[in-house]
Amino acid sequence: MATATATVELQGLNFNLSEEHQAVREAARDFAQNELLPGIVERDNEARFPAEQVKRMGELGFMGMMVPPEYGGGGMDTVSYVLAMEEISKIDASASVVMSVNNSLVCYGLEAFGTEDQKQTYLTRLATGESIGAFCLSEPEAGSDATSQATTADDKGDYYLVNGTKNWITNGGTSEICLVIAQTDRQKGHRGINCLIVEKGTPGFVVGKKEDKMGIRASDTHSLLFTDVKVPKENRIGDDGFGFKFAMSTLNGGRIGIAAQALGIAAGAYELSLKYSQERKAFGKQIFDHQAIQFKLAEMVTKIEAARLLVYKAARLKDEHKDYVQAAAMAKLFASDVAMWATTEAVQIHGGYGYVKEFHVERLMRDAKITQIYEGTSEIQKLVIARELIR
Ligand code: CAA
Repeated sequence: MATATATVELQGLNFNLSEEHQAVREAARDFAQNELLPGIVERDNEARFPAEQVKRMGELGFMGMMVPPEYGGGGMDTVSYVLAMEEISKIDASASVVMSVNNSLVCYGLEAFGTEDQKQTYLTRLATGESIGAFCLSEPEAGSDATSQATTADDKGDYYLVNGTKNWITNGGTSEICLVIAQTDRQKGHRGINCLIVEKGTPGFVVGKKEDKMGIRASDTHSLLFTDVKVPKENRIGDDGFGFKFAMSTLNGGRIGIAAQALGIAAGAYELSLKYSQERKAFGKQIFDHQAIQFKLAEMVTKIEAARLLVYKAARLKDEHKDYVQAAAMAKLFASDVAMWATTEAVQIHGGYGYVKEFHVERLMRDAKITQIYEGTSEIQKLVIARELIR
């Protein structure tokens, strides 16, 4: 864990962690240790949303980190965001997915593509953590195949009439502001899709079933149901038919957030394993002194460092307004595989203790799996990476 200024040269990127970056990392680490760790096993067991902790994340500025201060945000860069995501995810991936969706999908989407009115009305509330946002793209029959939207937004003149069902929506029950992707003109395919801002409480908008999940159990994942929901035209983001491009552009950045989450899960499991290996004795010595354990730790720290470089690179490219589509997909693909692998190794290092909840690594292992699935599966990331090779 570097405390001094770290410099990495990477494909022409001069990578510096400033004092501000390090301060953000320290603040996130302290918050995670002091406020997320207490009660985490119980929240996971009970699938209980960390409401108090998310409120605190808002107060501490973690919910709208990259939003300009005039809209209530922290005005920070993407590197700061991934540093905070990593630290928070080391402890609590349920809290970090709430943060990730709010920051990199909802806030970023509104900031980059919303009108001034939309920013004033919605972005400020989201950036301060007063309201939580949800990004509603997936459907029962449209996960990876995101252009196959069955949800419709019929153009009725000065409003849209929305009908359909969204599935696996993070923050589904707790969010007040939802970005809903829906098909307006089927003839136009993906160019006939819109993204609408829909507020909770709008007549016809109902929160459906809460999912009982393998991991990130304390996060709040629901289906959302829309029946003849009237959404004013001024709630459309961008021009008519921009909705799919909006979703894809936003997800490019979202994938950096999830890559940072995966990195944090892996690093959290590694740190616990390193500590445990120096406490546990077997065959008359610390298990760290057995080469079998040393090799596992050496491989873990190497792969985690490689993942970290990919995550920082994608974040830095975004900050420098360079093309980061492929870099984000690479970071997510690699970091999520490292998270799954490293957490499994962490359970192995902990032996029987790794299989019980109080030692945390079994939770991290369950949490890791989703990073290979949401915001584009690993297979979709490979597709994105390959397409960029010949673009
Ligand atoms: N960035 C910007 N634009 C993109 C893009 C990208 N990464 N990928 C595609 N597009 C654009 C294309 O340029 C194209 O536009 P034009 O025709 O105007 O040029 C349009 O989108 C359609 O693209 P394709 O023809 O490539 O569409 P496709 O159907 O072959 O493939 C896909 C698209 C990449 C597979 C896409 O459907 C995809 O990313 N699927 C995964 C969906 C996903 O990530 N879901 C996550 C749900 S949200 C979530 O998980 C949040 C949470 O809860 C944590």
